[in-house]
Amino acid sequence: MTIHALLSQQHRDCDLLFEHCRLALQDGDWPAAESAFGQLHQDLIAHIMLEEQQLFPAFEQATGQVQGPTAVMRLEHDWMQSRLARIPEQLQQRDATAALALLADVAELLAQHNRKEERVLYPWCDHLLPELATRLGASA
Ligand SMILES: [Fe+2]
Ligand SMILES: [Fe+2]
Repeated sequence: MTIHALLSQQHRDCDLLFEHCRLALQDGDWPAAESAFGQLHQDLIAHIMLEEQQLFPAFEQATGQVQGPTAVMRLEHDWMQSRLARIPEQLQQRDATAALALLADVAELLAQHNRKEERVLYPWCDHLLPELATRLGASA
């Protein structure tokens, strides 16, 4: 198991939930949209917490870089979380247009964000911290 394999799989799982939520909203299937969004929100926050509380501090300690890639990733996490936090209200108001727009904004940034993590940060972490994947795997 590598950090890259473990965390990239979490990205793919969240991509699928985004798609379920988007399709349910397009169909006007509110119970399905709420359930898919609930799962997505929970899984994405758990993924972000794992990165911010375990992966990034280990990277920062190994490289001495605290204003580098992890600082950028944290800013992007904050931006996505602030938008995701507005979606439950749109769901409650049955406002599919607003919810779909917010979801699309988050999905667009998340795709770029995940690409940077998968192409640069995760391979770098696997190289620097070969033992970390096992610990993350046990707590994921
Ligand atoms: Fe991230
Ligand atoms: Fe990630």
